[in-house]
Amino acid sequence: MSRIAYVNGQYRDLRDANVNVEDRGYQFADGVYEVCEVRGGRLVDFPRHMARLQRSLRELRIAEPMPLSALGIVMHEVVRRNRVTYGLVYLQITRGVARRDHAFPLNPVKPSVVITARALNYAKNQQTAASGIKVITVPENRWPRVDIKSVSLLPNVLAKQEAREKGAYEAWYVGTDGFVTEGASSNAWIVTGDGRVVTRSADHGILAGITRAVLMEVMAALQIKLEERPFTPAEAKQAAEAFVTSASQIVIPVVAIDGQAVGNGQPGGVAKRLREEFHRFSAFS
Ligand code: PDD
Repeated sequence: MSRIAYVNGQYRDLRDANVNVEDRGYQFADGVYEVCEVRGGRLVDFPRHMARLQRSLRELRIAEPMPLSALGIVMHEVVRRNRVTYGLVYLQITRGVARRDHAFPLNPVKPSVVITARALNYAKNQQTAASGIKVITVPENRWPRVDIKSVSLLPNVLAKQEAREKGAYEAWYVGTDGFVTEGASSNAWIVTGDGRVVTRSADHGILAGITRAVLMEVMAALQIKLEERPFTPAEAKQAAEAFVTSASQIVIPVVAIDGQAVGNGQPGGVAKRLREEFHRFSAFS
């Protein structure tokens, strides 16, 4: 079955789904994106993703290309046309096409919209969660506005590649203050010896993950204690458990950091439980 993408008003076979070479997303990474999990053919926590999208667009002064309700309809349609029951839907909005000039185009142009969807292998993801993942730490080298979900991801790409080359799955950024900020494509968490879950606050320095926000509601409901504060790699290596969260993988236990086992080197019980309970608390659209 060929895959279908939505590009600026048209549903196209992925092979013919092109954008203009002068798209500012292509030339300047001048755009934003969202990734939603798809489960049972439905979008997980979609309203929250749309709210974050709206904020990202506002921060970069990119116009909304269409009402968000219409965008939602198209995203569902792309999921349907690709027959994705379990997987991801990807949405990207860039400032649009204009002759290359760093400053915004003088005459406003229409933002470009691209939406794709793809199936993920459920059994494989379950297996990854069951074995846990390894992370490495890398120096924080991103711009300070990582709270905006922009497509400008070159440092994240390089960090992820370094992780892969070192036999790990994710890289955790460590700021000049010595504290972990977040992963290259996930938020970072630890669990203390007495069962408190720790993650840094989302006011600056990290992306305010949607999975992170929903997970906090899960923890409140399960009466799991939460501490919003930064932690160092040294504390993480001594922690009872560690895990990462993102829309694409929900909760994945971390079993080693920089080659050092976390806890007993096996996925921890708190992370496992949070992963199992998560979708009881998420909204399906
Ligand atoms: N990444 N931090 C970063 C830098 C991320 O790229 C992501 C998500 C997160 C978690 O956010 P959320 O829970 O809303 O997915 C945190 C997506 C999945 C990606 O780039 O593919």
